[in-house]
Amino acid sequence: MSKLQTFLESLHQKYQPLKSGKLASYIPQLTKANPDWFAIAIVTADGRVFEVGNSTENFTIQSISKVFVYGMALEDCGREALLEKVGVEPTGDPFDSVIRLDENSKRPDNPMVNAGAIATTSLIKGNEPGDRLNRMLEMFRNYINRDVFIDVSVFVSEKATGHRNRALANLLLNFGIIEHNVEEILDLYFQQCSLVVNCQDLAMMAATLANRGIHPFTKQQVIKPDYVRDIISVMYTCGMYNYAGEWAYRVGIPAKSGVSGGIIGVIPERAGIAVFSPLIDERGNSIRGLKVFEDLSQEFGLHLLDLSMGKCNFSDCLESK
Ligand code: DON
Repeated sequence: MSKLQTFLESLHQKYQPLKSGKLASYIPQLTKANPDWFAIAIVTADGRVFEVGNSTENFTIQSISKVFVYGMALEDCGREALLEKVGVEPTGDPFDSVIRLDENSKRPDNPMVNAGAIATTSLIKGNEPGDRLNRMLEMFRNYINRDVFIDVSVFVSEKATGHRNRALANLLLNFGIIEHNVEEILDLYFQQCSLVVNCQDLAMMAATLANRGIHPFTKQQVIKPDYVRDIISVMYTCGMYNYAGEWAYRVGIPAKSGVSGGIIGVIPERAGIAVFSPLIDERGNSIRGLKVFEDLSQEFGLHLLDLSMGKCNFSDCLESK
């Protein structure tokens, strides 16, 4: 067994007994998750897979979708046109904050908070809502490398209770940031959040970003390499919401979390990491996920600044002992 696999198993044992945090309940369907679910998966840029726990358990991707839809909007609109609608400033505010839109431009601060994600989703090209959804599913299919589907009960649950997102979308319409039918845009946003994934899928998606946009198995260029740097930058500064600063300090891995309990991390040129455990803290981040990433970063020197100072010992841990 490799040192990495042994370490993942020890992390799983160490943090399985941790029961703090709550299931997300503002989307009623998410309370059906099992609080004991816990998985860690790592896929290397050259396609080696390491996993432990419930790594094939299905759940909805939630906010982690924002990373990949941002990539799609970059390809659809280009960097400058997208920047006119959505900024790249961290907010230090909760993910669903209604308060901040840039005072002058009225842009949402960044594509990882809900306001920015809704604006980003509105820029996905396609004549009909069905065309836009199909293009989005195709994009996710390319990252995941199998057929993908939407959890309709979660989608309906979000659509029925998403009044705060509806308020944000109407505010964006008022300021001319989004231009067409609010309900169609919200549907697509709720659909992207309701995409069904497992922890292994998330690690594969993160590994594709780590591998300059080339899927480690299929070798398909899933996203233009030029845009991978943009995506990873925004993950680094904004991916963990009002924990982004402390995360950059303690963990130092470009990452994105979702309220269903997933966190992905990208180690450029090396690997994608995913943790899934649905007990989250008040900021919406998986509590076991935070712990696992902190330990992994510490153990293998995965903090971006450790990488750049040559302190990373990740490659050594992949081979069998
Ligand atoms: O907008 C929402 O409320 C959800 N569909 C996504 C929220 C989410 O995952 C935020 N992340 N922590």
